[in-house]
Amino acid sequence: MKAMIIGATGLLGKPLMRECTGAELTGTGSRDLDIRDARAVRDLIEKKHPDWIVLAAAYTDVDGCESNSELAFAVNRDGAVNVASACKASGAKLLFISSDYVFDGTKNLPYDADDQRNPQSVYGRTKAEAELRLLEILPDCCILRTSWLYGVGGKCFPDTILKLAATRPALDVVNDQRGSPTYTVDLARVILALCAKNAHGIVHASNGGNCTWFDFAREIIKSAGLKTEVRPVSSAQMARPAPRPAYSVLSATSLHRYGIEMPEWEDALGRFLEERRTPAAH
Ligand SMILES: NC(=O)c1ccc[n+]([C@@H]2O[C@H](COP(=O)([O-])OP(=O)(O)OC[C@H]3O[C@@H](n4cnc5c(N)ncnc54)[C@H](OP(=O)(O)O)[C@@H]3O)[C@@H](O)[C@H]2O)c1
Repeated sequence: MKAMIIGATGLLGKPLMRECTGAELTGTGSRDLDIRDARAVRDLIEKKHPDWIVLAAAYTDVDGCESNSELAFAVNRDGAVNVASACKASGAKLLFISSDYVFDGTKNLPYDADDQRNPQSVYGRTKAEAELRLLEILPDCCILRTSWLYGVGGKCFPDTILKLAATRPALDVVNDQRGSPTYTVDLARVILALCAKNAHGIVHASNGGNCTWFDFAREIIKSAGLKTEVRPVSSAQMARPAPRPAYSVLSATSLHRYGIEMPEWEDALGRFLEERRTPAAH
């Protein structure tokens, strides 16, 4: 099998590249291929002729998207359209990474794959519009929504908390946004399993269970054996440019249809902390 990871230099792309053994693999970062360039996308896909493409490239700065909406749509929606069109021309299958931020967060039960999109931020809108366009171009593509990614090898919430905890006696963390933190290594394995199973349609994949950012920070501090105080605050107290859903837990039903179960988030956090301590071993 021939596979291509677009966004191979990112937080999720790195473990995808590591875990994707047994396939003839091409990985691209933004320097190798800018997905805004339709011709370059088409040429590379024609040349490599992969069976599967995982599109993990995106402009992921959720607050940055609010002030740079033109760039956000150009990369996250139009770039995805360029990749899907090239897949259609070459016959490659596509798995596109989307986000829990396509939902408005007003539900208080896990979001199902067919729940109504109602994004509240520019980033969420770019992903929701990309999903709709991709389903028109390639009705058999797989749209994988995930949430709250973290991993070794890039900026992420646990890393920020641990760095801040090293210099501050107390941290204020929002306690009114609930979701499922997801370890990129676990997600990479699930993505590759879905490709192997020829997955299509919308699939939700996050680590099991859910928590608030405050709960997550407390567990990070505790698991790392630190004593830093973590104080709960509201989103209003920590105002950010982009609104976040208050509740964005994703139902695992669509994933269970493929016989796949993801580990609980606490278990995943323990393995992340281990990998962070000994990155060379992984
Ligand atoms: N992070 C989260 O919490 C989260 C949650 C839900 C869904 N997601 C989605 O999951 C996917 C992976 O996220 P991530 O956290 O791994 O992202 P990330 O660490 O920010 O990496 C983004 C990747 O996209 C590439 N990229 C950016 N602009 C590009 C362009 N114009 N053309 C080609 N490549 C470009 C980057 O390349 P360079 O590094 O070489 O510039 C990098 O490889 C994204 O689709 C994201 O929207 C993320």
